[in-house]
Amino acid sequence: MRKKKILIVDDEKLIRWSLNQKLSGWDFEVLEAENGKSGLRLAAEEMPDLVMLDVKLPDKKGTDLLEEFKESWSELPIIMITAFGVIDDAVIAMRRGAYDYITKPIDYTKLQSTIKNAIETASLKKEIAYYKEKEEKQFDTSQIIASSKKMHQVLEMAKKIAASEASIILLQGDSGTGKDLLSQTIHQLSRRKHASYIAINCSAIPENLLESELFGYEKGAFTDAKQQKKGLVELADEGTLFLDEISNLSLNLQAKLLRFLETQTFKRVGGLKDIEVDIRVITATNQDLELASNEGKFRKDLFYRLNVCPIYIPPLWERKDDIIPLAQHFISNYNLKFRKNIKGLHKEVKNLFLDYNWPGNVRELKNALERAMIFEEDSFISTKYIPIQLNRNSSSLSKHSSDEFSDRNLSLPEMEKNLLINALKKTMGNKTKAAKLLNITRDTLRYKITKNRIKPEDFSFTG
Ligand SMILES: Nc1ncnc2c1ncn2[C@@H]1O[C@H](COP(=O)(O)OP(=O)(O)OP(=O)(O)O)[C@@H](O)[C@H]1O
Ligand SMILES: [Mg+2]
Repeated sequence: MRKKKILIVDDEKLIRWSLNQKLSGWDFEVLEAENGKSGLRLAAEEMPDLVMLDVKLPDKKGTDLLEEFKESWSELPIIMITAFGVIDDAVIAMRRGAYDYITKPIDYTKLQSTIKNAIETASLKKEIAYYKEKEEKQFDTSQIIASSKKMHQVLEMAKKIAASEASIILLQGDSGTGKDLLSQTIHQLSRRKHASYIAINCSAIPENLLESELFGYEKGAFTDAKQQKKGLVELADEGTLFLDEISNLSLNLQAKLLRFLETQTFKRVGGLKDIEVDIRVITATNQDLELASNEGKFRKDLFYRLNVCPIYIPPLWERKDDIIPLAQHFISNYNLKFRKNIKGLHKEVKNLFLDYNWPGNVRELKNALERAMIFEEDSFISTKYIPIQLNRNSSSLSKHSSDEFSDRNLSLPEMEKNLLINALKKTMGNKTKAAKLLNITRDTLRYKITKNRIKPEDFSFTG
């Protein structure tokens, strides 16, 4: 460990000399200055850990010098040296932020403990400030854009749930609406933030591997199990486990997950012992879980268990007030990343963005901007590098709305419903074709059909 540095500012040579002897003997590195001016200069050059300051100096009043020190280095501990009996200066010094004062002749035992405490307090303060700053840097919700009323409500709800003891949370929303982001946010805002956050995509891992990934296995559980292995549930202990695309979990694993959620205990594959953990499970899906459970693809009991704390993130077109702020947010991020200086969006692009239905939601917006930012030479993003389908789609949307809906006062949700019904009529109820027509995935279409409560009789017609 490096030696701590102490700066002595005193005009009396003898005092400096005797202090230097003592302090060096206590293993400090000692710097000396004979007046205020050289004291300040030395402090700036050497960054001492503590300063001992005489109240009476030839060029400056010690108490004024103290103020100058405090202005430049507010956390630097300063011990004043006063002549015996001159208590007024000491009082002023304490008011102006001195750590303590000692009187001449110096009581070295007292001085030693005063110095020790001063340095410890200062480094503790530094440490706390460091962690606080680090924590604040690591996470602040300003990275989540929530300008629209709907998204603001979502964020407020997420904050409440994060701070609660709820151990099961369900995030629902179309692809690209920000479920991943919100899940991480919930973890960061919870008491669990210092423990692990583990995310796993249930559809990315084959079923037979997923169980041992989640719950681990014992040695000899299967041929390859040469050693015991801990599962993610165990590794996330005291933290958060994020299960993405939960609808793709097999029925067999759904049963195991349900048992785990109900007891917070599990067995490793091939194991007999119940292991207890304390984790929060956040699940996410872009499917309609209720529909899936009605169709027998998802266990009803598990759905009810997950659905205790549901958060629904609306699609981007339902919260248009987020579009421009999100665009600005991504532009400033990409400015940093690509070392550019794009100021914003051209008016035309703004209108295009506001008209478009964003089937890929925030992710689609982000990708569109990333591309445009790479190519744009101007300081505002023009339509030139905006994806063609975006131009086409929004115009086809407005064409539909003027051609096919006579009532121009329809609300957006009503328009969406009409568009869905029209597409289904045109394709005789063929969902794959209807989805293609609308430029959305079949899953999204099915989800929207349920959400809008569209029934077969709405689109099956003759002639
Ligand atoms: N409100 C928001 N503010 C800032 N960035 C956002 C917001 N919502 C989403 N994003 C960003 O958009 C991208 C897509 O979001 P995310 O991956 O969280 O979506 P998702 O709902 O998990 O999608 P999927 O269902 O396809 O997994 C991410 O880069 C995310 O950081
Ligand atoms: Mg996701």
